[in-house]
Amino acid sequence: MQLLDGKSCSEQIRQEIAQQVSKIIASGQRAPHLAAVLVGTDGASENYVAFKVKDCAEVGFKSTLIRMDETVTEAELLRKISELNADNDIDGFIVQLPLPAHIDTNKIILAIDPGKDVDGFCPANVGNLSLGLPTFISATPNGIMELFRRYNIETEGKNCVVLGRSNIVGTPMAILMSRNTNPGNATVTIAHSRTKNLVELCSKADILIVAIGKTEFVTADMVKEGAVVVDVGQTRVPDSSKKSGFRNVGDVDFENVKDKCSYITYVTGGVGPMTRASLLQNTLKAHQKR
Ligand code: GUN
Repeated sequence: MQLLDGKSCSEQIRQEIAQQVSKIIASGQRAPHLAAVLVGTDGASENYVAFKVKDCAEVGFKSTLIRMDETVTEAELLRKISELNADNDIDGFIVQLPLPAHIDTNKIILAIDPGKDVDGFCPANVGNLSLGLPTFISATPNGIMELFRRYNIETEGKNCVVLGRSNIVGTPMAILMSRNTNPGNATVTIAHSRTKNLVELCSKADILIVAIGKTEFVTADMVKEGAVVVDVGQTRVPDSSKKSGFRNVGDVDFENVKDKCSYITYVTGGVGPMTRASLLQNTLKAHQKR
């Protein structure tokens, strides 16, 4: 078993980006600039956004954090998005999800200028992804593809099961893995809550990508000998032995699954850091396009 080490891979990517930023600055241009909109004070979202701000500083990007109250109206948030769309100093921005229930997330995503949608969530960007056209690819699936690329994981002709069909991870992941690219060219099945014979289906997967948000859902009996297993899950579970009061748990029962795998990611040094690195890559791309 070999770990797919997203932590070290993402460090490498951050160094590559930092070098490019140095060149940008040396040529007299301004640094790439990412803005993040955070609505409310959800602990996990606060954490994710804090990491995004820290990552920007580390590679030499400018970043702006826009905090909005939990009670912000949809109209106010839409106004903020119009401002960010029009702001020539900002190359790209994200609206951290999930949003409070009174806000229509689709309406918000639709309002983002596709050229600044560094999350790759807009219909135009998802459409481009489906057609294999240049686009901003959603950070988590893009980070996983980058891991496969950097570890030379063979995907062509492989049986790939994607567990979860979210707009952010499962759906774009399945599209990417099925396209005529390397990595890619896999035979992909999207499995979800209504899938029958899930154990049988997963246990036939050469590549199993798990993004369902259910702690330790994938057990050893669901994993084929020699499979590549990617765990996107990261759920906070109360843990009084930790200073923070919680620990992050993945969707895969890592301890009991790992010895069956040829490659496996671990929480939190696998997919998480790669997702963060992908957002930086997209922001750099947005800067280059402008
Ligand atoms: N919430 C969980 N993951 C993400 C992400 O990649 N982008 C945004 N905007 N919100 C998220």
